[in-house]
Amino acid sequence: MARAPTESCGDTNISDWSFCSPKLFVYILVTCVILLILFQIQYLDSPGSPSSSSPSWPLNHSWNAGSQESPNCSHELLALAEKLSDAVTFLPLKDLRYAQTAHQGHTWFMSSLYDTHVEGEVQYQQYPSAASRGRLLCIKGRDTHDGARNSYALAWPNALPRNATVLTGLTFVSYNHYNYDNIWHGLSAMVPFVAWHLRDGQCAVPARWVLYHWGELRIKMGPWVKSLMQATFGGSVNIEEFGDSGDGVACFEEAVVTRHNEGGMSRERRLEVYNMMRCKAREYCNVRIEGRGLTVIGLTMLMRTGARSFRNESAVVGIFQRECGKIEGCRLTVAYADNLTFCQQVKLMSLTDILVSPHGAQLTNTFLMDKNSSVMEFFPKGWLKLAGVGQYVYHWIASWSGMKHEGAWRDPNGDDCPYPEDDHRCMPIYKNGRIGYNDTFFEEWARNVLMKVKTRKMEEALNKNTTLVLSGCACS
Ligand SMILES: *[C@@H]1O[C@H](CO)[C@@H](O)[C@H](O)[C@H]1NC(C)=O
Ligand SMILES: *[C@@H]1O[C@H](CO)[C@@H](O)[C@H](O)[C@H]1NC(C)=O
Ligand SMILES: *[C@@H]1O[C@H](CO)[C@@H](O)[C@H](O)[C@H]1NC(C)=O
Ligand SMILES: *[C@@H]1O[C@H](CO)[C@@H](O)[C@H](O)[C@H]1NC(C)=O
Ligand SMILES: *[C@@H]1O[C@H](CO)[C@@H](O)[C@H](O)[C@H]1NC(C)=O
Ligand SMILES: *[C@@H]1O[C@H](CO)[C@@H](O)[C@H](O)[C@H]1NC(C)=O
Ligand SMILES: *[C@@H]1O[C@H](CO)[C@@H](O)[C@H](O)[C@H]1NC(C)=O
Ligand SMILES: *[C@@H]1O[C@H](CO)[C@@H](O)[C@H](O)[C@H]1NC(C)=O
Repeated sequence: MARAPTESCGDTNISDWSFCSPKLFVYILVTCVILLILFQIQYLDSPGSPSSSSPSWPLNHSWNAGSQESPNCSHELLALAEKLSDAVTFLPLKDLRYAQTAHQGHTWFMSSLYDTHVEGEVQYQQYPSAASRGRLLCIKGRDTHDGARNSYALAWPNALPRNATVLTGLTFVSYNHYNYDNIWHGLSAMVPFVAWHLRDGQCAVPARWVLYHWGELRIKMGPWVKSLMQATFGGSVNIEEFGDSGDGVACFEEAVVTRHNEGGMSRERRLEVYNMMRCKAREYCNVRIEGRGLTVIGLTMLMRTGARSFRNESAVVGIFQRECGKIEGCRLTVAYADNLTFCQQVKLMSLTDILVSPHGAQLTNTFLMDKNSSVMEFFPKGWLKLAGVGQYVYHWIASWSGMKHEGAWRDPNGDDCPYPEDDHRCMPIYKNGRIGYNDTFFEEWARNVLMKVKTRKMEEALNKNTTLVLSGCACS
């Protein structure tokens, strides 16, 4: 008898298996059916309604047994959470594998993470979020010299890395390929946060900022940039230095990361952002524009000293002064951006219809003028051929903020370069050259722009309701 199974279910032949398996199958099936019937009987016997879970069914017992073991079970969960904590993997903030494409695609900053990007909207990452599956962003990142020594990770709130400090509230984590001091580069890095704040962020205000450049921590913004952010978000700008978290890890209760400036944003979205910043800046600086009158034309010359200043400033001022004098209501102001406070710049721009200025960061103020205002830009010799697309940034900001860039004058004369003129080795010589002038050209240009602005303002005066619409800023 003991040999019977071996005889009937010989293991040498596959066909024997096919005879054996159905037999086994039938046994199992019968057992299952019997169990099911027993179960059904007990189930139907129970007094509760069939749809509600009955307390008298056999499983109740084992569930009970399970809950008695729960102290052990939660102990195991804790052990598991600790393992998860230990499994949090930190990667370098600056990924050298992408050094050649440092600010393309997912960039060399937090290279393993992807941005949320909806067509026409700002690109950003948010933690915790559905995309991070509820994980927080953690950073071990105090190094100010080598971004590859700083690192980041994602971790679940109940399995954070050991000794992590949780920084509460909302944190803005910024990546800037250039710097936070220059007002153009600083502003470019701020724009995506303002865009997020306006839409997805539903006017949420940051508790702190974490600033990176090439993965290196930065603890300062230029004063102009900082003031603009104070104005935009209200309250002080708190820049994280990670002083309290020792060498340890900081995890952010909520974080928004941006690394593509205004990249991806539609024209409409950019306009929204600049409108809001203009409005907030004027509010912050108590600038009142009433009483200025639509027939007044503000012509402002925003001057530089040193690099890219006019070689003969009085001559240039003289030309614009003469042309301004020929137009009724034209008021000329000559100012140096370097010795104006943020609010003085905001105020000056609110009185400016035509901004006359050499290429340089001070032109970032363009967006602070009333919409549809004009910009006239001046370049020293050599820029057109050698400076790359970066020379057009003030064309861009004019367009993004709803202004009119009236073109640029490029000095044909300048310092001599020992190499052929289009040799890139000439750029360092030309970069900070000074700017001359052309009487005839400047006169004609100034006259044309002044006429155009005068016509526009007269039309606006006729078409518009005289009552100024002083609606509040967005997110007020
Ligand atoms: C089934 O479990 C519940 C709670 O887990 C308990 O209140 C109930 O008495 C149990 N029923 C039986 C028959 O053990
Ligand atoms: C809990 O676990 C310990 C050891 O891991 C064991 O000795 C103990 O019997 C368990 N308690 C229960 C209620 O199962
Ligand atoms: C956590 O902090 C304690 C006390 O400061 C220290 O002894 C321990 O080494 C730290 N653990 C880690 C993983 O840093
Ligand atoms: C600047 O231009 C004015 C007017 O053309 C001229 O009189 C003056 O000499 C120039 N100054 C310098 C330093 O070249
Ligand atoms: C502003 O700067 C210019 C040039 O640097 C200087 O001549 C002038 O005195 C300054 N004005 C004030 C009010 O500081
Ligand atoms: C700017 O000009 C456009 C037409 O060129 C006009 O539709 C718009 O209303 C103007 N905006 C303001 C704020 O005056
Ligand atoms: C000055 O500008 C005028 C008008 O564009 C031009 O005809 C003239 O050649 C320019 N002069 C110099 C010296 O470049
Ligand atoms: C002027 O304002 C009134 C009331 O706010 C409005 O009904 C009217 O359409 C406006 N006119 C123009 C030309 O915008």
